[in-house]
Amino acid sequence: MNYFDFIREVPDFPRKGISFKDITPLLQNPKALQGAKKALLELLKDKQIDKVVGMESRGFFFGPMLAEQLNAGFVPVRKKGKLPYSTISENYDLEYGQDVLEIHADGIQKGDRVLVHDDVLATGGTASAVCRLIERLGGEVVQCNFLLELQFLSGRDKLIGYEVASLMQY
Ligand code: PRP
Ligand code: MG
Repeated sequence: MNYFDFIREVPDFPRKGISFKDITPLLQNPKALQGAKKALLELLKDKQIDKVVGMESRGFFFGPMLAEQLNAGFVPVRKKGKLPYSTISENYDLEYGQDVLEIHADGIQKGDRVLVHDDVLATGGTASAVCRLIERLGGEVVQCNFLLELQFLSGRDKLIGYEVASLMQY
């Protein structure tokens, strides 16, 4: 399947000069949705996974679907102040300034084998903060996978030492 056909480029969103990669056409199409789920699982090559960690918001589309298929649990990473129980947090860089991501302290057990999933790898700031959260709780990041990778932003440079895989590269 050619997944690029299901990615809509929206010019000047969220700001002038940015061409936004909109994955909602892919989500809306049953064949594309199933195909993308299957292809993300194939990136893993049958590696055993205990937990899938997906980050708010767009990591929540495929994260739980992948977890269900892998017979793994799903653990959400959320933006500051959204998770109700005890959390640990990490700062990460935005284009202007910083923000904070949090995970429940009991979300990962020592030795858990973890798949990190998000829709887009851009600068890598988000994913690298998520990897730090997982490792602080004693988890092992087996792979970080993404639907889209914006290669010109060099996100992989922030994920050196981790296996990184993506379905589509721009
Ligand atoms: C987007 C995207 C990734 C992140 C990638 O999320 O969904 O999570 O940016 O960027 P990075 O590699 O430069 O860190 P965003 O923070 O816009 O929030 P959303 O998922 O809630 O839309
Ligand atoms: Mg996001």
